[in-house]
Amino acid sequence: MMYDTLIRNALVIDGSNAPGYAADVAILDGRIVRIGDLHEARAREDIDAAGRVLAPGFIDVHTHDDTVVIRQPQMLPKLSQGVTTVIVGNCGISASPVSLKGDPPDPMNLLGGAAAFVYPTFSDYRAAVEAANTTLNVAALVGHTALRSNHLDDLFRSATPEEISAMREQLRESLEAGALGLSTGLAYASAFSASTDEVMQLTEELTAFGAVYTTHLRSEFEPVLEAMDEAFQIGRHAQSPVIISHLKCAGAGNWGRSPQLLASLEEAAKTHPVGCDCYPYAASSSTLDLKQVTDAHRITITWSTTYPELGGRDLMDIAAEWNVSLLDAARRLQPAGAVYYGMDEADVRRILAHPLSMVGSDGLPEDPFPHPRLWGAFPRVLGHFSRDVGLFPLHTAVHKMTGLSAARFGLKERGEIREGHWADLVLFDPLTIRDVADFNDPQRAAEGIDGVWVNGVLSYSAGQATGKREGRFLARQGNLRAGFQPLQNSL
Ligand code: ZN
Ligand code: CU
Repeated sequence: MMYDTLIRNALVIDGSNAPGYAADVAILDGRIVRIGDLHEARAREDIDAAGRVLAPGFIDVHTHDDTVVIRQPQMLPKLSQGVTTVIVGNCGISASPVSLKGDPPDPMNLLGGAAAFVYPTFSDYRAAVEAANTTLNVAALVGHTALRSNHLDDLFRSATPEEISAMREQLRESLEAGALGLSTGLAYASAFSASTDEVMQLTEELTAFGAVYTTHLRSEFEPVLEAMDEAFQIGRHAQSPVIISHLKCAGAGNWGRSPQLLASLEEAAKTHPVGCDCYPYAASSSTLDLKQVTDAHRITITWSTTYPELGGRDLMDIAAEWNVSLLDAARRLQPAGAVYYGMDEADVRRILAHPLSMVGSDGLPEDPFPHPRLWGAFPRVLGHFSRDVGLFPLHTAVHKMTGLSAARFGLKERGEIREGHWADLVLFDPLTIRDVADFNDPQRAAEGIDGVWVNGVLSYSAGQATGKREGRFLARQGNLRAGFQPLQNSL
């Protein structure tokens, strides 16, 4: 038997949250076909992986890569971290189905300008991803704010019954075409006015498909528990799994409350399929939100349409130079993006370590001075948090970015190293893997990643993209509720 690729003597961490074991892994026709002692086997590509960890390719469950996967299909910021699948369409914003009337409303502008929005239906988007031959696998949510922008002339109110039925129809069509579910971004002004009832009515479309509800909560500040309750209420109404996006305690007045948030999540998990994602940093990033302007912690500007040269500067310094208040400076910079140093490290660690949390980068690929999570989130969990800080064993870190994520989003035959599964794989050095991107120099590839295979094809090696692009569009498969275990079993 001649295999395509043999990876020999690796420490296989299979994604199931079990400790690693030594084995050889054989790849043929895009799949993992054998795992074990294969010393007599031969392959066209033979790799000695002694001292290295072989893990399932990482699944970035929280991205805003909707349009960049098409316009820059190499996807180096993610590929270089070992990511093989991205889930797009988070936080209520998606590239499809969208028919803009002018410029994209905030925060849809995180995905690009008006020219980036050319997918009036989900099927158009899916076809564009397939035609782009992207490096990574792509699965997609539909954004609530995107639907609102199609049907509401004014985003600062709740939708009328007619508008809700028009949105429902587009959502249903998208689910039929393979969307994973619905995402909301209720904290953003463009969706904040939507009533709970508006969202509940939309999520009724999810029920029949077994699709998921993901949400950037209505608040991550003091009313965060109430916002979580709203999310669970919506999920129960729709009988749909709920994923809370980038769970955090935002704002200095809110620090230290992560045990309360996690208790609420655990309580909900006893009777309903729920989970969350998070990124491994104590700073957040999005568009510059006037409601979040404060002198209680540092805020840096990442981009500004009016003052592009100020990307990377502190809002405090800009305000001092202009001799105006922080709020006035923020107003003048609009539209703009920012990094908010508004979390407490202990909360970040507690949420990251919790068995119900997955890793998602929330990276912003359009940002000229992006939060370093875009290039560093996954190696940071493996290197900094697992190896250096000892927050959890390496196999648990891997599980949070592979097996758990694939189960939650129903990505069949991915997320674990098993015979018959797709060969989405990453080979890395557990002693040297490290995020290099930081807040001062955020666009740098991680160290310690030796190779990344997507659907069996070596796509990243020796610090370079190989130019092979074998990613696929992953349509929703089956009822996503099946991927949630009762909490007793997962804890
Ligand atoms: Zn968000
Ligand atoms: Cu997001």
